[in-house]
Amino acid sequence: MRYYATIRAASVLVGLLALTKTGYGLDCDLCYGEEDCSLGLDVPVVQCDEEAVQLTNGSLASFIRPLRNALPTKHHHYECVHVRATSVSGHVFLFTRGCVHQLEEGRHFCSLPHAAFQGSLECVACVGDRCNNVPVRQEGSGAMTRRSSLISLAVCSLLALSLFTLAAPHS
Ligand SMILES: *[C@@H]1O[C@H](CO)[C@@H](O)[C@H](O)[C@H]1NC(C)=O
Repeated sequence: MRYYATIRAASVLVGLLALTKTGYGLDCDLCYGEEDCSLGLDVPVVQCDEEAVQLTNGSLASFIRPLRNALPTKHHHYECVHVRATSVSGHVFLFTRGCVHQLEEGRHFCSLPHAAFQGSLECVACVGDRCNNVPVRQEGSGAMTRRSSLISLAVCSLLALSLFTLAAPHS
């Protein structure tokens, strides 16, 4: 009796895992804007459904125009997305995480054409619970790292130069 119950439980579990893989019962971060989306693991999570897709779509449709048209999608198959657009000056003007429908064969969310802008775009579309909780890259600190490595490079070459001068035989 107990043996069968265990098998049943196991097969239910396997079934659930299989469903999760296809995007059923998928949990994704859902947030808009830099403040909400920068909360790390405290970002709100939703289980993808049609409502979550509508919310996400609403905040992305003006940037990713093809979303306005009915794209060929797999019904009730979802994926998590993370979209973050930063202008050249470092201003994050679009930051959205949420759920979208999986697109039909051969089309990928991140390959959809988006509005042209100067700056950098991060786009992630993935299937896996909270897979869109990607660490936020700080433009500012990136520039800082680059600057400090430039400074250390300059210090190193100065040091090498003075060593060379010291070691050179006086004439
Ligand atoms: C996405 O949002 C746009 C703009 O609000 C709307 O025109 C479009 O129908 C929406 N698409 C879906 C699939 O809901």
